[in-house]
Amino acid sequence: MLAAVCNVWLVTPMKFLITAGPTREPIDPVRYLSNRSSGKMGYALARAALDAGHEVVLVSGPVCLAAPEGAAIVRVTTSDEMFDAVHARVGEAEVCVLCAAVADFRPAVVEPRKIKKGDAESRRIELVPTRDILLSLRDLPPPKNGRKPVVVGFAAETDDVMENAHRKLRAKGCALLVVNDVSRADIGFETDENELTLLFASGEIRPLAFSKKDTLAAELIKIICTIS
Ligand code: C5P
Repeated sequence: MLAAVCNVWLVTPMKFLITAGPTREPIDPVRYLSNRSSGKMGYALARAALDAGHEVVLVSGPVCLAAPEGAAIVRVTTSDEMFDAVHARVGEAEVCVLCAAVADFRPAVVEPRKIKKGDAESRRIELVPTRDILLSLRDLPPPKNGRKPVVVGFAAETDDVMENAHRKLRAKGCALLVVNDVSRADIGFETDENELTLLFASGEIRPLAFSKKDTLAAELIKIICTIS
């Protein structure tokens, strides 16, 4: 929450739960399905929230980034672990920002031994959907002594970007959906810059111009606090 007193912005410290990075869905003991998420946007959000005086629990998939100083970091690997880590902590959170690029599918069976190349001419891997963490927060009962957290989702799209994003905002029931166009090489996955479009549940659409992820993160944290 932000309040202006004599032109000085006062920040009420809030409890943020932020997810970041990819997940890895094992195929066998040495192989996995994953994606190109570097975790940079989620870690930038965690740093920005801390810099603004908030408390941060950061649930992170496997990334090559140093933990932001001051964050309580929970390291996970699979989407199931991320789901459980979020649900174990959501009761404490006032704001949930689900920035992680969670795998949408995982292998139905994890082979206990390394799959050998000579075992078959070709091989099919059956995939099943992972549990959708963002969607699961939509239907959480309100906590006994408090309000449900404000939930912010991210959408990484390559085509029909805004159409898909509008559908996702409605389906997942979040207060704000932050949209990334990941078909562009200069923004999104692995880069230090991004360009975002914010879709609010109220119907408002607000672009955030091309900038460093750190700059966008600081702006985003301020905006999120105005809807909290
Ligand atoms: O449906 P899609 O994966 O594009 O939605 C992206 C948003 O949903 C992100 O906020 C991501 O963190 C979240 N998500 C999730 N659990 C999944 C898949 C996506 O929380 N299994």
